Amino acid sequence: VTGTAADGGAPAPGGGPALVAALGRIVGGRHVLTDPDLTGSYRTDWTRRFTGDPLCVVRPADTAEVAAVVAACAAAGAPVTVQGGNTGLVAGAVPGDGDVLLSLTRLTALEPVDAVASQVTVGAGVTLANLQAHARAAGLDFGVDLAARDSATVGGLTATNAGGIRVLRHGDMRAQVVGVEAVLADGTVVAHLGGLPKDNTGYDLVGLLTGSEGTLAALTRVRVRLVPPLDHRVVALVAVEGTGPALDVLRSLRAAGLPLAAAELCYADGVDLVRSYASLKAPFDQAYPAYLLVECAGPAESEDDLLAALGEADGVADATVASDPRGREALWRYREAHTEAISAAGVPVKLDVAVPVGRLAAFTAELPAAVAGAAPGARSIVFGHVNEGNLHVNVLDAVERAEPVTDAVLRLVASYGGSISAEHGIGRAKGAWLPLCRGEAELAMMRRIKAGLDPADLFGRGVLLGSLDAAR
Ligand code: MLT
Ligand code: ZN
Repeated sequence: VTGTAADGGAPAPGGGPALVAALGRIVGGRHVLTDPDLTGSYRTDWTRRFTGDPLCVVRPADTAEVAAVVAACAAAGAPVTVQGGNTGLVAGAVPGDGDVLLSLTRLTALEPVDAVASQVTVGAGVTLANLQAHARAAGLDFGVDLAARDSATVGGLTATNAGGIRVLRHGDMRAQVVGVEAVLADGTVVAHLGGLPKDNTGYDLVGLLTGSEGTLAALTRVRVRLVPPLDHRVVALVAVEGTGPALDVLRSLRAAGLPLAAAELCYADGVDLVRSYASLKAPFDQAYPAYLLVECAGPAESEDDLLAALGEADGVADATVASDPRGREALWRYREAHTEAISAAGVPVKLDVAVPVGRLAAFTAELPAAVAGAAPGARSIVFGHVNEGNLHVNVLDAVERAEPVTDAVLRLVASYGGSISAEHGIGRAKGAWLPLCRGEAELAMMRRIKAGLDPADLFGRGVLLGSLDAAR
């Protein structure tokens, strides 16, 4: 990865063994890891494409320990990479060589649900699945969901402004986060956790830290809004002839007033890969070019309405519907197992893009030539969150051609007025392409925010703007 302790950082008077010893005095020696056998899962990302060699992994138990750890690192001039569940896909939480890897997975406090406000405050290290279970035990639910729910942490989801499969209904993390507590680069603890729906008292610091990718602060607690439980769910897997017909079906279902909760798109090659990876039978008697998965959720049954709307919709080649939990899960598996199946097939170049939804069909038609031009013989598996025009372009057999493939696809995206990262973020992987989406004045403003809050470039050195600067 880029961003080593040696590339321009402040000298580290107390770095190395002295810093490791100081961190051990703060968190207890057994929570400072240096043995490569123990640090392996923290050093490499989920895709196995990115790896770093930290000075140590430090695992504080609470906010006070995080603040003391950051203050010690600041005093030593040692860069800090903050990590949650390490499920990120752009190396934002992969340590730079020589960094202190600050793992927040021990911050697992679940505070009581405030049922009146429909909010809860939890520690940054709480997993998404545990937050969901906590909300459901109080008769509510959490509005964000994604396949990495068992490992992804609330801190990481917030720091990356995660999206996932329910953005269509509830929005992304920014739409859920109503307060944060964080440790700044000098060890100061800053908190705004009141969760007031109306609060016009200055800059939106909570919104600023949400999506800051570990470059401005280490988030320690997060307050989120909760949503009503939607107990009646029905899922349809709809066979379609391609991207355009999938969008036609989605438009019809929306026009029918259905309580849509998810709309996901995948293609024949991805479903084939998933089927052989997970030993699943074919969803239909014959293969189709593309599959739209839709979920409706509400306080009342909507299966009959969904069936009726599918019957009316143009573009439906075939469809199968399930409302019982096992049947729903079986249909979701065709979509949710894509990430694992792709990873089992090789180390992918993962691109996460969005284009205006009205131009999605044209974009998907141009995409294969762009990939083939940059990496002849590579295999692209594409799937994603179709309602937002967000496609995950996974290119297999192309790691050696990662840069030209990324360049070709992201330039195509930019020519469509799209985003080079719809939900995974910039991390250490995508900075070089940030100017495709963000103007010089915007980038200069971001740099001033970074310099104001973290003048020594302690947090996430080489991430986001750091990866842009390294690419220049
Ligand atoms: C997903 O939508 O499943 C995630 O963004 C993960 C991925 O892109 O592989
Ligand atoms: Zn996604």
